[in-house]
Amino acid sequence: MMLEFAKLQDFYSIFPQTVAIIGAARNLMPAAWHTPLSADPPLYGVSVSPKRYTYDLLARESGFTVNFLMHEEAGLIAKLGNTSGREIDKLERFGLAAERAGKVNGMILQACYGAFECEKFAVHECGDHFLVVGQILAIHVTREVLSEHEVIDLRKVRPALYFSKDRYLTIDPATLAVHKK
Ligand SMILES: Cc1cc2nc3c(=O)[nH]c(=O)nc-3n(C[C@H](O)[C@H](O)[C@H](O)COP(=O)(O)O)c2cc1C
Repeated sequence: MMLEFAKLQDFYSIFPQTVAIIGAARNLMPAAWHTPLSADPPLYGVSVSPKRYTYDLLARESGFTVNFLMHEEAGLIAKLGNTSGREIDKLERFGLAAERAGKVNGMILQACYGAFECEKFAVHECGDHFLVVGQILAIHVTREVLSEHEVIDLRKVRPALYFSKDRYLTIDPATLAVHKK
């Protein structure tokens, strides 16, 4: 089946994506377009439209944070994504508990189950977005949410995934399958 270009928005709904909350200075913005890019050095990329206040902040700051929230925080994610730090202080407006990251000028949300601190490594123009690449300087994770394999235990963490058009879902841990190499 071939989709018309006009159906591009629908194409994005084919696969749900984990939501990352990008923290720059005091501001926080959800992003569904983000990805690991390199293991050595450890690089992480976030795709940010120049329309976002976060873009202006990332242009002037030397680093940022990437926070991961659970599905039960989907309402908060929607609020952070429907408001701009240009107009309001989101931390204050939504009464968020957060602390400043240790190595970069960005916030770490108390509600997150994991977070990265990234130093700006490169910025690439990518169509109508900019791929902001950060080198991960620190990883924060709550020990209790790790499994014995040192990966996130999906029985304890239900990550927030975005499924376009204001829809959110999570992962069903019952579907976990292991296929050895
Ligand atoms: C779930 C979700 C995912 C989003 N993903 C992105 C994204 O990947 N890149 C982007 O530039 N904007 C994305 N947005 C839009 C911004 O989060 C939104 O415009 C936000 O209000 C920008 O805040 P700011 O002006 O304080 O930076 C997303 C919004 C939501 C709700």
